[in-house]
Amino acid sequence: MDTDAPRVSLDGDWRFRLSPVADLPADFADAAYDDSGWDTLAVPSHWPLRGYGNPWYTNVVYPFPVDPPHPPEENPTGDYRVAFDLPEGWGDRPVVLRFDGVESCAKVWLNGVELGFFTGSRLPAEFDVTPAPGRNVLAVRVHQWSAASYLEDQDQWWLPGIFRSVTLEARGDLDDVFVHASYLDGQGTLLVDSSVPATVSVPSLGITTPAGTPVTVAVEPWSAELPRLYDATVSTGTETVRLRIGFRTVSIEDGVLLVNGEPLRLRGVNRHEFHPDHGRAVPYETMLEDVLLMKRHNINAVRTSHYPPHPAFLDLCDEYGLWVIDECDLETHGFTFSGWEKNPSDVPEWRDAYLDRMRRTVERDKNHPSIVLWSLGNESHTGANLAAMAEWTRSRDSSRPVHYEGDADCAYVDVYSRMYASHAEVDKIGQEPGIPFLQCEYAHAMGNGPGGLAEYVALFDKYPRIAGGFVWEWIDHGLRHPRFEYAYGGDYGEPLHDGNFVIDGLLFPDRTPSPGLLDLKKAYEPIRLSIVEYLGGRPDQPGGRRIVVEELRPTPPLRFEWSVRDESGVVDLPDGSMELPYSVRFPQGPAAFTGEAWLTVRAVLAEDQPWAPAGHEVAWTQTQLSKQAPFAPTGSDRPLGTDAGFSFGPGEFDRTGRLVSFGGLAVGAPHLALYRAPTDNDRGEYINLHDTWHALGLHRLTHRLDSVSAGDALVVRERTAAAALARGARVTYEWASAGDGLALTVNVEPDGEWPEPIPKLGVVLPLPASIDRVAWFGRGPGEAYPDTGLATWTGRFESSVDDLQTPYVKPQENGRRADVRWAELTDADGRGLRIDGSFGLTVRRWTDADLAAAKHRNELVPGDCVWLTIDCGQQGIGTGSCGPGTLSQYELTLRKTAFTVVLSPLS
Ligand code: GAL
Repeated sequence: MDTDAPRVSLDGDWRFRLSPVADLPADFADAAYDDSGWDTLAVPSHWPLRGYGNPWYTNVVYPFPVDPPHPPEENPTGDYRVAFDLPEGWGDRPVVLRFDGVESCAKVWLNGVELGFFTGSRLPAEFDVTPAPGRNVLAVRVHQWSAASYLEDQDQWWLPGIFRSVTLEARGDLDDVFVHASYLDGQGTLLVDSSVPATVSVPSLGITTPAGTPVTVAVEPWSAELPRLYDATVSTGTETVRLRIGFRTVSIEDGVLLVNGEPLRLRGVNRHEFHPDHGRAVPYETMLEDVLLMKRHNINAVRTSHYPPHPAFLDLCDEYGLWVIDECDLETHGFTFSGWEKNPSDVPEWRDAYLDRMRRTVERDKNHPSIVLWSLGNESHTGANLAAMAEWTRSRDSSRPVHYEGDADCAYVDVYSRMYASHAEVDKIGQEPGIPFLQCEYAHAMGNGPGGLAEYVALFDKYPRIAGGFVWEWIDHGLRHPRFEYAYGGDYGEPLHDGNFVIDGLLFPDRTPSPGLLDLKKAYEPIRLSIVEYLGGRPDQPGGRRIVVEELRPTPPLRFEWSVRDESGVVDLPDGSMELPYSVRFPQGPAAFTGEAWLTVRAVLAEDQPWAPAGHEVAWTQTQLSKQAPFAPTGSDRPLGTDAGFSFGPGEFDRTGRLVSFGGLAVGAPHLALYRAPTDNDRGEYINLHDTWHALGLHRLTHRLDSVSAGDALVVRERTAAAALARGARVTYEWASAGDGLALTVNVEPDGEWPEPIPKLGVVLPLPASIDRVAWFGRGPGEAYPDTGLATWTGRFESSVDDLQTPYVKPQENGRRADVRWAELTDADGRGLRIDGSFGLTVRRWTDADLAAAKHRNELVPGDCVWLTIDCGQQGIGTGSCGPGTLSQYELTLRKTAFTVVLSPLS
């Protein structure tokens, strides 16, 4: 509680000593103990991130033998000591010592007197204490493992230590305050329960009333979009508690989850607490950064996976507006390997521990208007103890529905929750009658991806029963590392670990948005914009356009801006903007376009908001105004035989017809490429396409020359196949004169049956390492695959080769630009090559094999050429690293295919 009772923070440098086992004498607790030989350690922090021992990552498995309730004998134990002076004037007031978070358990002594012991790493623990006047010594013994570790098997790093604040608080007389603030038809009803008689005051509403008495007044409701808070106080003679009250009512009607009578549309993410240097000891500025980043990316909801976050994060959610599922600190996933035998969720001896965790969650967080659902925990199967938690929660707070994904039969929850259900299943659930449905986890944001976001959100928008979903997850848990840049499981020599499964966020560890977050922003747009052509009724304005806005969720005031760009990047039409109303006429201009031209309309904030300045983009759309002039240059050159092979326009070829130089640049011959460095989604636990691709030898294709012939064109026939396999592809590379360049037509014909999806269909060729700049017209600025790249628009873009790479923590296929009509690749002097056609473009300083072999970013080192990939298709990305693979419409198979690009020299 935010109270005016005096308090002192005990955060700072404490004396610290680490031991490898738990069974140690308690002599250090004595006030007179000499700790001068100890180190100092910051509180809050995790000791493995400060040079004591190492972090350890496991997902589901317990990193110790499963023999509940026993912890292992190897049990790193941190002894802490700090001295403090009792502030003057605290007199006889009762004093409370509070720990906001200690992993995994602690025993506490004050001046040598044992106060007690607690567990519940992400939960508060309080002790009534009697400090001596003047100097006091607090001693705390923290064990990494305890019986409670069986209840904290969340998918994250194991990071022991006192990682949240420690506070000493002089108490007044208000032990508890419980705000009930509901909303109905413009009226708010406020009832504040307090543990002793008190006066409730809300100055801006003119309310002064005894606690325990309901008052109804006209109010503005609280919502994630408009988080109206009212400052209030609850006072006794000796203590005043400050509150920020938000009025809202959560209800379920006809299977629809409502807030203030409107359907709740949860467009959410799962947030673990994480910082690359501090682990779960997340600085306040970082929490704020998370909230601002979420708001700026159209995210309106957070599931606090899988424990109550630092309390300040919830204050920020109240203030800036995010719907919250507050989850209890509970997960027993590792029992799955023994068929859930002895799973604590159904063992009576664990019942009190379960209830204690839920109580501490609800009691700490109950006054946050942002919290709209309580969650019992995560992946703890099912059992009587979970049912008891739900029952207790409802009895204590009937105003919020109860969530728990593990209650598959919905026996004790109020909403049906699933993780990673496929699109087809979500579609089916949407049509069935029942209690409200949500996906507490979907679209696993591991590495490149997730694909299929737009299709999920379309389903959420379609069915009233579906309250929405929460992408897994917010941030990569990569720990900063001197060698690897960011470390993941196994990088600390853990004997058992789950590798890079902890690198599955929408943000890179330094909080740079990944392409997945940019896509999510597009998918979660609160309004859907479209541009339609005026048809009929406006003969004066042929081709006039109208902008149509469909409001999906309330927004702050918006302004609409438009611009028209063609392939040259400029047109003689002024950029424009307009305020509401939403449906307006787009002015026509005389513009003569160079090639393709596109109209882009953007909805931006009309006014500053607490989370973003005026002008911040909320939604956008595009329409094509003019099409590309058909590009089919012809030329009269013919290949000429030379001593070395063939000379043909700008191209020099060897005797086998393979390209060796182009426009004077040393280049290599294009060859069919069917492989890509596997994305995490290509290597899913259940869907592992990468194994299939390896079995097919796609990463080690060889090319056998069958014939070369020179007439009007130079025609090279090859058979591409992998050692040991009979199937392959017959490929014809046909070079023909085209303007001052050469047109290359690649004909691919499968030789044998190829039923499986393949990752890529294209050609790869090496260019000189001096190539550094890339300009293109197509989709950009970021990467895009068939089912990703929602955030990309059509236009003219430029980049260095290095900036085209997306720095996934675990290297993998990345950086492809989609729907490219032309690209110019040049060196510092403007020499290089232009490609015209319709293709996917990838340019990098290493090969697919290098990319596939690299485990960390630092292993990607520029080679002696730049590798250009021109593809006519890639397999979608999907979300198979945890969940369904690519939707069938985004699958790629090897079929008879032909594609043409025109290569021209640039000088
Ligand atoms: C879920 C789990 C999450 C995380 C995710 C995969 O099953 O609830 O904690 O492990 O899978 O990244």
